[in-house]
Amino acid sequence: QSGLREPADRLGLRMGTAVSAHLLDQQVYSDTAATEFNTITHENSLKWESVQPQRGQYSFANADRVMEFAQANDQQVHGHTLVWHSQLPSWVEDGGFSAPELTDITTEHIETTMGRYAGEIATWDVVNEPFNEDGTFRDSVFHRTLGEDYVAQALTTADAVDPDARLFVNDYNIEGINAKSDGMYALARSLLDQGVPLDGIGIQGHLIAGQVPGDIRQNIERFTDLGLEVVITELDIRMDLPVTQAKLDQQAADYARVMDACLAVPGCSGVSVWGVTDAHSWVPDVFEGQGAALPIDEAYEPKPAYWAVSEAL
Ligand code: XIL
Repeated sequence: QSGLREPADRLGLRMGTAVSAHLLDQQVYSDTAATEFNTITHENSLKWESVQPQRGQYSFANADRVMEFAQANDQQVHGHTLVWHSQLPSWVEDGGFSAPELTDITTEHIETTMGRYAGEIATWDVVNEPFNEDGTFRDSVFHRTLGEDYVAQALTTADAVDPDARLFVNDYNIEGINAKSDGMYALARSLLDQGVPLDGIGIQGHLIAGQVPGDIRQNIERFTDLGLEVVITELDIRMDLPVTQAKLDQQAADYARVMDACLAVPGCSGVSVWGVTDAHSWVPDVFEGQGAALPIDEAYEPKPAYWAVSEAL
């Protein structure tokens, strides 16, 4: 097994994984993350609650640890995430701030967090999960206080902090063409029309085996036709437990479909999986009775999905 990294490098594709800072001390975990992937996403360590849990009190130890790992292994870094309704400390959420105050707080957070790693993080999820399933804007303290303009404000601030970083808006359930991805498409067009510095769309890719949309490539294409980059940022394809051979085979076909969709579109520059192995996946914690969503199993053994990804590269 030569790893996914080498073929991805040859194709110029970012092939990434999310990692947790506290797991990097485990040798087999860090070896696998280094061998298989050329790109690293901070799974939690750059989120607002991790970085600035109290107003003005920043803590970057875990994020620094992930940066050191990526740099030691010559990997690109995807920054996740600056403005998001979740894992947001209550001092922001329930602070009762006016619009000018929340703008200042958000600007400061972006300047400090992004500024620390300016030039070191190639791509950023500046805004995460702005949409409801019907394509309208999700209710959040940012939307409630600042209106839709919070997205443009965040992107403009981010561009000023690190003009070389590629700036993304990221969301889930926008893999195929549907009401939610229509909402993202409308937002992208409107931001580009206004001259807002948007570089790409992150399609999270939290999918279910046997239920992967058939029009992922067409959906990616409509964004790249706008001149945007697309990355599949958080791919996992879960199944009902227990695992069976038939489910693993279905999952492998589904991974191949996602990889092929990205590889078929020149503007689709990367695919990252959301965890190094099934032992480190968020899925069992959040989706009851489901799991086994990643290409490598709990024992670090490659699954059929791994070979499907490897073959697609
Ligand atoms: C998840 C992490 O994997 C978990 O460890 C954490 O407890 C909750 O967040 N969409 C995102 C990610 O953008 O940040 C989420 O990550 C998964 C869904």
